[in-house]
Amino acid sequence: MIGRDLLGIEDLDRADIERILETAEHMGEIGEREVKKVPTLRGRTLVNLFFEGSTRTQTSFEIAGKRLSADVVNFSAMSSSLAKSESILDTARTLDAMDPDVVVVRHGVAGVPKRIADVLEAPVINAGDGAHEHPTQALLDLFTVSREKGRIDGLTVTIVGDILHSRVARSNIYGFLKMGAEVRVAAPPPMIPPAIETLGVKAFTSLREALDGADVVMALRIQNERLAGSYFPSVREYAATFGLDRGKLRYAKDDAIVMHPGPVNRGVELSHDLADHRPGVILDQVRNGVSIRMAVLYLISGRRPSGGSD
Ligand code: NCD
Repeated sequence: MIGRDLLGIEDLDRADIERILETAEHMGEIGEREVKKVPTLRGRTLVNLFFEGSTRTQTSFEIAGKRLSADVVNFSAMSSSLAKSESILDTARTLDAMDPDVVVVRHGVAGVPKRIADVLEAPVINAGDGAHEHPTQALLDLFTVSREKGRIDGLTVTIVGDILHSRVARSNIYGFLKMGAEVRVAAPPPMIPPAIETLGVKAFTSLREALDGADVVMALRIQNERLAGSYFPSVREYAATFGLDRGKLRYAKDDAIVMHPGPVNRGVELSHDLADHRPGVILDQVRNGVSIRMAVLYLISGRRPSGGSD
């Protein structure tokens, strides 16, 4: 994967995903050491280019880069020349002239990381673009499931919530299907993309049916920032029908785990109880996110295409 962009799970094959998950397993060991740092990316520069807010993803890329000894530069769109109306591509060209080794991009519009990747010499990692993809989130979710369940192949994964506007849903659909899971989505009808079944998932408007026999239940936040119009009568009604709590979870398998990419709207898509306690695994997802991002950074920028490793 050296020098390759990571723009979406759609572009990866099963072998790529397996290699990333195996590498993340080793990276997790570094995080357990007293000195959580290895020299693997010493002398490399990682630029975090975030045009949209982020807590988990940006911090986790920063920690991942630092654990590998890369120099990490955080570029926030509000404090840059973009606020003086420089175009995104000019910003990208300017950055390119500073010769970064890997650039992580988040943007509210689908396709921007790809456009930046077309300009940059350095490989680009998509950290979420509009409602399109969020590949490292799906990879950390796959990693979390594989650690919890010992496999992904043959599991039933139910994704509940705002499927239409969620890049996490899309990346996870590709990822879990490529790894051999059955994927179901459940939401009020307007939040289910019209042709979703052509991707190979089963769509449900009844949560009870969608949860029947599920091994993994993933709740998603309603993407209020991307909603135009009304998708359900009220938040209270949504919570009553699609909000996960211990009562509704009884429809899933007894040992089902509950995931959420964060940030959680407590009491809407997830009860407080499941947000804080097992079978909720939300903080494990966050912890695993650092290992996954270390793995991806290493596999993409650990060695120069022409040079040897160090
Ligand atoms: C997600 C995102 O930004 O797409 N959050 C994250 O990266 N952990 C999900 C969300 O905002 O709902």
